[in-house]
Amino acid sequence: MTQLHDKTDNTPACEVSIIVPTYQEADALGPLIERIGAVRDGGLDLEVIIVDDNSQDGTEELIASIGLPWVRLITRTEDRGLSSAVLCGLAEANGRVLVVMDADLSHPPEVIPDFIAALDGGADFVVGSRYVPGGSTEDGWGVLRWINSKIATWMARPFTTVRDPMSGFLGFRRETWASAVDLDPVGYKIGLELIVKCRCRHVTEVPIHFSTRRHGESKLSLRVQLQYLTHIVRLARWKFPGWSSFVPFAVVGLSGVAVYAFLLWLLQAWLGERVSEDLQIIIAIAITMVWNFIFDRWLAFWYARKQSIVRQFVGFLAVCSIPVIVNFFVTRWLIGDEIVTPAAGVIGALVGSAAGVIFNWVVVRAIVFRAQARAGGD
Ligand code: GDD
Ligand code: MN
Repeated sequence: MTQLHDKTDNTPACEVSIIVPTYQEADALGPLIERIGAVRDGGLDLEVIIVDDNSQDGTEELIASIGLPWVRLITRTEDRGLSSAVLCGLAEANGRVLVVMDADLSHPPEVIPDFIAALDGGADFVVGSRYVPGGSTEDGWGVLRWINSKIATWMARPFTTVRDPMSGFLGFRRETWASAVDLDPVGYKIGLELIVKCRCRHVTEVPIHFSTRRHGESKLSLRVQLQYLTHIVRLARWKFPGWSSFVPFAVVGLSGVAVYAFLLWLLQAWLGERVSEDLQIIIAIAITMVWNFIFDRWLAFWYARKQSIVRQFVGFLAVCSIPVIVNFFVTRWLIGDEIVTPAAGVIGALVGSAAGVIFNWVVVRAIVFRAQARAGGD
C-alpha cells in the first residue's frame, strides 16, 4: 500500500464514509465525485475512500488534481480483489455509517440519505435493491447475465431472504461491521458475506435504478463467478456446519454403493472362479472404503484436514467395520441365491450403509474427524 492512514491520526470523525472499490475506473470517478459532492452539499457530512488496486490508468493523478479534502485514495499494490478492497476501505473509515458502492455510476449516490434514514429507523443493514417495487435495471443486460444473476440470487436463498443479495450498494452502522466474525473476502459478494457474518436481522432494501456503466468495462469474469461457488460453500459450512458435513457424507456413501457394485462385477468378470467369492467381496469392500475415506475427508470433514491422515484412516476403518460386516454377509448371502453379482452388491451395501449412515457420521465426526478449537472455512 502506498498510503495508509494511521488509526491515531486526527482525521475528524464524520457521519458517513463511502467506500468505493475501483479497478480502472478513472473515467467514471470524476462524475461520481461530482454527484457525491452534490449529496454532501445537501448537508451530509461525508468522506469518500477510494480503494484502487493500482490501476495505473490515471486514477492517482485524477484524485490529486481534484484535491478535495474529503476524498481519499488508497492504492493497494499487494492484494487484489473487490471484497478485500472493500474490507481495506472499511478499516480506514471514520464514519458513523459506512456505505459501499461501485465506481461505475451503476449505483445512485442520491439515495444515501435514504440509507441513513432506514438505519436510524432500526435496520441493521441496507442494500440498494433492483428487485423491490420502485427498483429497476437499465436495459442492456443480456439474457445470459440476467439468468446468471437469477441463479446466483437463488443460491443465496439459504442465507438471506433479501431480494437482491447480489447488490454491491450497501449501508450499515460501524458497530454492525465491527461485530462481524470470520470475514472471508472471497470474490465479489461482500454484501452477502457481511449480512451473514454480522448476523443481520433487519435488512432493508432501498429501491434503486441500476444504470449500465458508461465508461470502462465490467470486471465480472468467469473466475469471479467460480469464486462465488466457493463463497457459497464457505458460507454454508459456516452457517450450517452439521448439514454441510452430513449431506456430503450421505452422498459419498451413495457413490460408494455404486463403486462397490461396479467392483464386484469387475472382479467377478476378471477373476472368475480363480479367486474365492469371499475374497472378491473383501477386495471390493477394501477399495470402496478407501474411496469413501478420501471423499469424506475432503468434502464432509474438511475442517479436520490438517490432522494426521493415518490416524484418521485407522479410526475410519474401525468405525465403519460394523456396516461393512453387515454388508459383507448380506452380499454373500444374496450372491448365493441366484441374484446377479452387482445387484447383490448394491443391496448389501445399501443395507450396510442404511444401518450405518447416521451412526457412522455421528461417531466418525466425534472421534475420527474432530473439529479443532475453531473450524475455519474452505
Ligand atoms: N479495488 C478493486 N479491485 N475494485 C474492483 C475489483 C478489484 O479487483 N474488481 C472490481 N472492482 C470494482 C469496480 O471498479 C467497480 O467499481 C466495482 O468494483 C464493481 O465492479 P464491476 O465490474 O462494475 O461489477 P459489475 O457491474 O459486474 O457488478 C456489479 O453488480 C453486481 C450485481 O449484479 C457490482 O455492483 C457488484 O458489487 C454487484 O454485486
Ligand atoms: Mn458495474
